[in-house]
Amino acid sequence: MNNCTATAHTNIALIKYWGKSEELENLPATGSLSLTLDKFWTKTSVQASESESDEFSIFGQKIDDNARQRVAGHVDYFRRLSGKNAYVKIESRNNVQIASGLASSASGFAALTLALAQHFGVDLGLAELSKIARRGSGSAARSLFEGLVLMHGGPHITEEQAFAEPIHSSFAKDVGLIVIECAQGKKPISSTRAMNLTSQSSIFYKAFLDNHPKLLNNALSSIKNRDINGLGRLMEQSTLQMHATLFGIETPLWYMNPTTIATMNYVRELRKKGYNCFFTMDAGPHVKVLCEAKDATTLCKKFSSLDGISKLTPCRAGPGAYLHE
Ligand code: PMV
Repeated sequence: MNNCTATAHTNIALIKYWGKSEELENLPATGSLSLTLDKFWTKTSVQASESESDEFSIFGQKIDDNARQRVAGHVDYFRRLSGKNAYVKIESRNNVQIASGLASSASGFAALTLALAQHFGVDLGLAELSKIARRGSGSAARSLFEGLVLMHGGPHITEEQAFAEPIHSSFAKDVGLIVIECAQGKKPISSTRAMNLTSQSSIFYKAFLDNHPKLLNNALSSIKNRDINGLGRLMEQSTLQMHATLFGIETPLWYMNPTTIATMNYVRELRKKGYNCFFTMDAGPHVKVLCEAKDATTLCKKFSSLDGISKLTPCRAGPGAYLHE
């Protein structure tokens, strides 16, 4: 089929996955829990290439070698699956900073998976597509679904078990997530590289893995009980435990900058003043603040007074990935 276009929204992990139990298949060494966001997305179209090779672009610009290799691997996977050897032209655009810790690869590979599946006539259910999206980026497996999403993972997870599914909780509508950009430009080290260094040498990684199932189960219970305070506290533990593993690497590293720390401190101050708000960070310096949906606008104004913040975006729960007619 020619010209297949899909949109997928980014998601932010409330309980993080960190580390791969198998790198080639991108199997996550822990499960994870995320919220798909309404404001950030990637839109990707796939059509037959008129040249004798694949063509990839973002906003009409060629993509760098590393991204190109990852996208090419995804296209090859669909060629093998469908038995069709055709070349493709892939054009993508998004409204999220790339490679900076704002989950651009989550929406990117989810949109790409959906558009390629339609283009190559691969008729699979969402759980199977989630496994394929995971091969491009672990977090992309979650971006196929709306609202709160659970991704299965663990040190002994198999390829068949490693997919995401929606939690179907109306609690997703009660929460907001403010994305606070604390720097501009790309992160110094990719999440895959940092994860690999962590699992190879961090003296804290075993403790992270051992504690993770409890965090995830308790977070799922908090959602069932519609308890933002419980969920938010577990979210802070999850992100700080993930970032702590980086301090335990042979040559330690960190993603936080002074604005990250100031924002985290301010979240705690606001909590003392009675706001239910909680922070999380991914593989980058940006802070994402979970709050009650009704408080998002007020809190955004408060955060805008902090120095060093380049952009603030109040988000709500967003939709699953979809195809355009
Ligand atoms: O999607 P990946 O494989 O680049 O890894 C993302 C890792 C974190 O954002 C730090 C955590 C997560 O669960 O999304």
